[in-house]
Amino acid sequence: MKGIILAGGSATRLRPCTKVTNKHLLPVYNKPMIYYPLNTLLKAGIKDILIITAPQGAGQYLNLLGSGREFGARFTYEIQDHPNGIAEAFIIGENFIDDDSVTLILGDNIYEDDLSGAISSFVRGGRVFAKIVSDPERFGIVEMDAQGKVLSIEEKPEHPKSNYCVTGCYIYDRYVTEAVKHLRPSGRGELEIVDVHNWYLERGELDVCVIQGEWIDAGTFDSLYRAQILAKEKLQHRMII
Ligand code: DAU
Repeated sequence: MKGIILAGGSATRLRPCTKVTNKHLLPVYNKPMIYYPLNTLLKAGIKDILIITAPQGAGQYLNLLGSGREFGARFTYEIQDHPNGIAEAFIIGENFIDDDSVTLILGDNIYEDDLSGAISSFVRGGRVFAKIVSDPERFGIVEMDAQGKVLSIEEKPEHPKSNYCVTGCYIYDRYVTEAVKHLRPSGRGELEIVDVHNWYLERGELDVCVIQGEWIDAGTFDSLYRAQILAKEKLQHRMII
């Protein structure tokens, strides 16, 4: 299993804090934000990790994280020239992924749960992690039947079919690099991660794990504030980095 941390984008929602500093380098309590998704991957035993950043500030990630040796891992770096969508990570990362499965985690997603079991038990297809939210129109939303089988997934739906948000960690088998080649940019000009989910769903190969602990997408001032509290009160003593 390989890992990718997607830490590009322009983070306009956090201006002016992100005018000269990249979002994923902002402090979340006592660590840079990117340490949290990195910790999630390392804790799951993933040691081969690609870090994708925007061109601005790319050198800062290298200075901060280095080769990975300090973390008992190996880091590779790639640049995403423009924020062309989350799914572009699988195009940028095609050679890195090679013939392996891959776990992609967004650089601003902070999990209380240990995802190790769900990652190590993954065999094929796709797997996403869902969490109940009160503002479903802001996220990817998954509709499931009583047995937890996925019925539909929609990105930021006007009329959400459930309150289960698809959080920002996704596991796919090696065919994901094939899947993204069939995608077309959406109306907002992005290669959408929801289209990758749906590619697997159409093949009957997408499953969902509902997470129990807290989860925060730290992309707004309010959620960043909540992330600071979560990090201080619940995460510090469980981090391995
Ligand atoms: O946080 C979970 C949500 O993340 C999911 O529920 C949605 O399905 C998914 O589309 C995504 O929605 P967001 O609106 O939060 O995506 P955002 O554009 O804010 O990007 C999320 C992270 O990915 C952020 O840290 C920046 C990075 N990113 C995003 C894009 C579009 C990149 O590095 N490159 C990109 O091209």
